[in-house]
Amino acid sequence: MQIAERLKKIPPYLFMELRKKIAKAKADGVDVISLAIGDPVDPTPDSIIAELCRTAHDPENHRYPTDEEKGMFAFRQEVARWYEIRYGVKLDPATEVLGLIGSKEGCHHFVMARVNPGDVVLMTDPGYPAYRASILMGEGIPYNVPILPANDYLPEFDKIPADVCKKATALFLNYPNNPTGACATREFFVKLVAFAKANDIAVCYDNPYSEVLFDGQERLSFLSCPGAMDVGVELNSLSKPYNMTGWRIGMACGNPDLIAAISKVKENTDSGIFNAVQFAGIQALRNETANIEKMMAIYARRRTRVLTTLERIGIKFNPPKGTFYLWVPTPKGMSSLEFTNQLFEKTAVVVASGTAYGQYGEGFIRISLTVADSRLEEAMVRIEKAFGK
Ligand SMILES: Cc1ncc(COP(=O)(O)O)c(C=O)c1O
Repeated sequence: MQIAERLKKIPPYLFMELRKKIAKAKADGVDVISLAIGDPVDPTPDSIIAELCRTAHDPENHRYPTDEEKGMFAFRQEVARWYEIRYGVKLDPATEVLGLIGSKEGCHHFVMARVNPGDVVLMTDPGYPAYRASILMGEGIPYNVPILPANDYLPEFDKIPADVCKKATALFLNYPNNPTGACATREFFVKLVAFAKANDIAVCYDNPYSEVLFDGQERLSFLSCPGAMDVGVELNSLSKPYNMTGWRIGMACGNPDLIAAISKVKENTDSGIFNAVQFAGIQALRNETANIEKMMAIYARRRTRVLTTLERIGIKFNPPKGTFYLWVPTPKGMSSLEFTNQLFEKTAVVVASGTAYGQYGEGFIRISLTVADSRLEEAMVRIEKAFGK
C-alpha cells in the first residue's frame, strides 16, 4: 500500500524502545508506574458531566453541531467572557473566537490556514512534538529555535539568522511551556509582537497550560499584549484546567483573518464539536473555577513531593513555575536516555527523556504530576531506595 511521502518525514517516536520494554515488563508481571504522560487521572468535575448528560438527552443536539466548524455562538461567547475575566482580554465572539477539538487540532489547522509548501516555520527546541508533525504534514520546513535555561527557556529572536526570518511565515510558541515548565513575561510578549511584525510572521501561541501556575505566577494571555491581535492567534483548551483531555474541546482566539482561515479549514475537514460537549464546556468555563484551584493545590503537593525526592538523591534545581511537568536535570555525566533507562530498570518508573522534545532537551527528563497520589508516592519511594545516597 502506498503511504504519503509527507508522513514518512515525521520522525519516529522516541519512546518506541521504552514502550517495548514497558510492554515486556508488564507481561512479566512488573508493576510499572508511568510519570511520562500529561493526562490528569483526576476526574472531570461532576457538574460538567451532569451538563453533558442533560444536554445529550435533547434530540436537538444529536444533529450536526450548531454553527458547525465555528462552534456554538453561546460557547464562543462564554470563551470571550472567560478571556475577559481571566486575562483582561476583550474578544468579539463572532470573529475572534473559534471552537476547537482541542488545541492540538488548532496547531494542525493553523498550519493548513497559514503556511504554504516550502515556507519555514519556527518552533522551539525543546518543544511540543505535535508542532513538527503539523508543519511537516503542511509541507512547511520546521526550523528549531533553541530555548535554553540561561535565557529562562525563552527564545532569543536576535539569534535567528536573517535569511531564516525572511523565509519564515509562522512561529509556534507555548508558555507555560511543555516540557520545561517555563513561563513567559509581558516584556517577552512585547519582543515577540515586534519580531512577528518586523518579519511578517504569524504567531501560533499555544496556551493550554495558562491556568497551571505555581507560587503566585501571573496568569497571562499573549493576546493581552498590545499588537498581538494583529500578528497571531492563541490556542487554549479545557483539557488541563478542567481535567477534560478526553472530551476534545478547546478554542482559537485572536486575529480575525487567521480565525476565518482556520474556520475555512475546519469547514472542509470536520463538522465541529458535539453540542452536548460544548454545553458541558460552557458549564466548565462559567462555573468550575474552583476545580482549577483544587487541582493546583493537588499539583503543588505532588510537585513538592517529587522535588523532595530529587533533592534526596542529589538533584537540586530551581523549578520553573508553570505546567504540571517537572523538567529535571539528569545526574552529572548521564544522558537523558541513560537516566530514563536506569530509572526504568531500577524502579520500573517511566519518565520522558528530554530528547523526545528536541536536541536541546538533552540533559533533562520530564516528570508529569498527573498520576494518582498513591502511585506517585510509590514511585518516589522506589526512586529514593534505588538512587538514595
Ligand atoms: C503544548 C501542548 N499543546 C497542545 C496540547 C494538546 O492539548 P489538547 O488536549 O487541547 O488538544 C498539549 C497536550 O499535552 C500540549 O502539551
